[in-house]
Amino acid sequence: MSIDAVLARIDRDLDQSLERLFALLRIPSISTDPAYREPCREAAQLLVDELNGLGFQASVRPTDGQPMVVAHYPGEGLDPDKRVLFYGHYDVQPVDPLELWDSDPFEPRIVTREDGSKMIVARGAADDKGQLMTFVEAARAWIAETGSLPVPVTILFEGEEESGSPSLAPFLNAHADELKAGAALVCDTGMWDKDTPAISVSLRGLVTQEFTVTAADKDLHSGLFGGAARNPNHVLARIIADLHDADGRVQIPGFYEGVAETPADVRAQWDGLEFSEEEFLGQVGLKLPAGERGRSVLEQIWARPTVEVNGMIGGYTGAGFKTVIPSQASAKVSFRLVGEQDPQALMEAFQAFVRARIPEDCTVSFTNHGASPALRIPLDSPILKTGREALEAEWDTEPLMIGMGGSIPIVGAFKTKLGMDTLLVGFGLDDDRIHSPNEKYEMSSFHKGMRSWARMLGMM
Ligand code: BES
Ligand code: MN
Ligand code: MN
Repeated sequence: MSIDAVLARIDRDLDQSLERLFALLRIPSISTDPAYREPCREAAQLLVDELNGLGFQASVRPTDGQPMVVAHYPGEGLDPDKRVLFYGHYDVQPVDPLELWDSDPFEPRIVTREDGSKMIVARGAADDKGQLMTFVEAARAWIAETGSLPVPVTILFEGEEESGSPSLAPFLNAHADELKAGAALVCDTGMWDKDTPAISVSLRGLVTQEFTVTAADKDLHSGLFGGAARNPNHVLARIIADLHDADGRVQIPGFYEGVAETPADVRAQWDGLEFSEEEFLGQVGLKLPAGERGRSVLEQIWARPTVEVNGMIGGYTGAGFKTVIPSQASAKVSFRLVGEQDPQALMEAFQAFVRARIPEDCTVSFTNHGASPALRIPLDSPILKTGREALEAEWDTEPLMIGMGGSIPIVGAFKTKLGMDTLLVGFGLDDDRIHSPNEKYEMSSFHKGMRSWARMLGMM
């Protein structure tokens, strides 16, 4: 049996593959918003039905949050030591601001550019429904063409990745034996550019903190009380301003503990990549790198830790105007971690930093929305070698080993809880607008992504 027949089937069935992806994209599985609980369940059920149809033993597994999908391909007669675990997430980010979408986020469509290239536009097209379907469709082609997958496969689809994966650790603990495999495959990352595949070999960690400053016990008239009463918006603004110095360095004591300088050889490799800072920022309408002074943009997004304020709430933010001194103000803050930075220690250092700036008659409270450490993928794992060879065969160019600024909390848990190495291969592009209006996935990513996984499966 040659891989060519499987690849030819993928080419031939592209339209049907797209239809199946579109059915998934039509379901508004927004995990963070309780109003979309039912669509999340529906998306999980759709995937279970697809996988059962392919010969997997698949089921929806309830959790305290959104359900998981677990599916096993029995693989009779296959080498059980070769089992791989594939992971993706069927949940998506909220769509707001809705008015900035050119069409309904949950009515997927294909847009053809002047040069003939096509893209799939919908919430979740790239993050992560289009990506996870590249694997499902590759499996489908193998089974249709040869009657079986070449290696035993377990699939885990999560429905809470975009909301901090609260159910993940308990689920992995409870089902470690069932999920453990020789290696994990994750399709939730990007390529270097549209012609150059990549394997991500580092992920930043993530700590999220929400804090609320309370001053007066009720909202006040800012004429009657202004000047005398403490304004929590001002307290909040000062804390946020204090987070960075003028050179973009984070001022929280101990923040850089565990952060190593990028080794010279790695930096040399990055300097050798053809990366244009102007283009990277230009694609989002910016010109000036705003992070730590004296570091390249690649270093800033791959190798340096950050603090970002993701949201600030305080006082009157509706239409028109209201002269008010609010009782409360709050902010949502996230940290990206690198190296050996300790999520727990950082959380405590941040809380101490904030508390030290709270005036005597104000109070502060904190909410934690999840924490995961940074991660490095060992460069010598066998699964990485397979990934490299398969990607090179499909794309006709060697894949680049790249860093990744984003976070995928489960990858650390695969190592610590299940002892598995992970191969991070994805086909997203920097301009896919993930988490933003008009999210898209390139048709070439979808098509060659399926072909890439088909090759990888055949080489394991
Ligand atoms: N797929 C992304 C991570 C990602 C981002 C990979 C950019 C490659 C390029 C993932 O779905 C994501 O958005 N993760 C969140 C985690 C959070 C919501 C807990 C992130 O990184 O902010
Ligand atoms: Mn994702
Ligand atoms: Mn995401």
